[in-house]
Formats: sequence, structure tokens, C-alpha cells
Amino acid sequence: MKVITKIAEMQKEADQLRIQEKKISLVPTMGYLHEGHLSLVREARARSDVVVMSIFVNPSQFGPSEDFKDYPRDFNHDVELARSAGCDIIFYPDAQEVYPEPYLTYVEVERLTKVLCGVSRPTHFRGVTTIVAKLFNIVKPQLAVFGQKDAQQAIVIKRMVKDLNYDIEIIVAPIIREKDGLAMSSRNTYLTKAQRIQATVLYQSLMVAKKMIDAGERKATIIKKRMRDLIEQQPDAIVDYIEIVDTTTLESQTALNGEVLIALAVKVGKPRLIDNIIVRVLERTINTESLK
Ligand code: PAF
Repeated sequence: MKVITKIAEMQKEADQLRIQEKKISLVPTMGYLHEGHLSLVREARARSDVVVMSIFVNPSQFGPSEDFKDYPRDFNHDVELARSAGCDIIFYPDAQEVYPEPYLTYVEVERLTKVLCGVSRPTHFRGVTTIVAKLFNIVKPQLAVFGQKDAQQAIVIKRMVKDLNYDIEIIVAPIIREKDGLAMSSRNTYLTKAQRIQATVLYQSLMVAKKMIDAGERKATIIKKRMRDLIEQQPDAIVDYIEIVDTTTLESQTALNGEVLIALAVKVGKPRLIDNIIVRVLERTINTESLK
């Protein structure tokens, strides 16, 4: 496995691979890898000839009061994990290489970035789309793999790819969970022991929502209230948002119908955790037999 730190070298490598007609896949990460990231590498491995993982804690997607400085980092461990999952190249640039001064150009997807996480993190997605667009130009992949845990991010990136005519297939891989349901995240490491237990309430609340829908509830307000009540029983949990939205437009739904994304962000102590599920809401059919 190669580690490349310079943009020019990565671009040259990508050009060589393309001349050899190799299919390149990109798995963009901020490092501090866990099983969730490794599942993305395996997905990429199965669909391409050369898997490139980028490891870059991207300053432009953190707000001024967010955890850029504290974000967990362990490059040597990441290298071992990436190798074991079948990665071929790690692209590991520093901030100076990616954003040389003066840096003036950003990529912004409108509307989709103003809801859900975009409300409390107004500059976050601009940073994400800028770095992902740059990585696409540097690694030159035919395919890129993202995780469903960052559902809004995946939708925003798909929109960017469509709107900017990138010839890149976007694969969204399922959320990988701990045994008790907590979605894997590098930020789980911030949780104290007590908060780690409390954090399972995110997934529990999503399961409650699904049960309510399966039992026939179609009013989003009622489902969201039940989820909030459950989460707020945990002493360290502060709800940022609980939303039920359309899976492509991210428009808020009131009377549920078709495929919906139930997404939430909750601060549990220091970290702000996100999670989501997609539920297919079936049209309610009245069992006329039982009315006879
Ligand atoms: O999902 C992440 O880890 C980041 O947002 C990404 C896509 C690597 C961009 O920095």
C-alpha cells in the first residue's frame, strides 16, 4: 500500500492508472478509522481495481466553535486498518497542500444544505463539497463511496455530481452499528462511559418511529414528539433536530407517504451525534373484511 502526500504525485499516479484502464475508487475520510470506514473500503474493493482512501481532517467543514483541533487522529493505526481492509493507496495531504494561501474558491450546493445539519452548521456542507470536489480532481476516480450515516452529505454530494457533470458513480453504503445499535462514528470516542450508554437512545428513538409507522401512524408531529420525549429522558442529551423528510429533496413531511428519511442530531455531552433510517411508508389499506 502506498502513502501519497502531494497532489501532483497523486494526479500523476491517477493518470498512469487510467492509461492502464484501471478503475479507480475513492473513499474519502477524515481518518480515525473504524469498522464503518472499513466497510466503505470493502465496498470500493469489490467494485474497482484500485482503492484510494483519502485521510484529511478538512478545516473548511468545521465551524469556528467546533472540534477541528480536538478531532481524533491516529495516522499509524489508520494505515494498518486501511491495509487490512484492502486499500491500495492512502492520500494524506496536509492543510497547506490542500488550501495554499490565498485560498478563494468554494463549491456550494444550494437549498439542500440549508436544512437538517445545515441549520446549526451553516458553513459545513460548503466545506464538504469543496474538499470532495477537490479530491475528485486529484484522485480522478470513476467511483466514490460514502456512508449512509451522513445521509444529508450523501444527498448533497449526489446533487453536486449531477449539477457539475462529474462522471463519477456515487455509492452509499449502509450504516455500521455497534451491537447495541449506536451508529459507529469517530466522535463516539468523546463519550464518557455514562454518555455512551445514553447515546443508544438515538437508535432506540428511530426504532420507535419505525414501529409507530408500521402500526399505522402517519402524522410526523406525533412521531417526532414521541422520539423527542424518549431522547430527553437522558440527562446529557440535547436534541438539535428530529426531522422526517423526503429522501431526495429533504423537504419536511407532515402526512407520511412513500419513502421517508427519519434523521436526527443530538448532543450527548461533548459530541453532537447523528443517525437516520429510511422507512418505506405503505399506503394505509382498510381491511374491509374486519368491517363486515
Ligand atoms: O464524511 C466525512 O468523513 C467527511 O465529511 C468527508 C466526506 C471525508 C469530507 O471531509
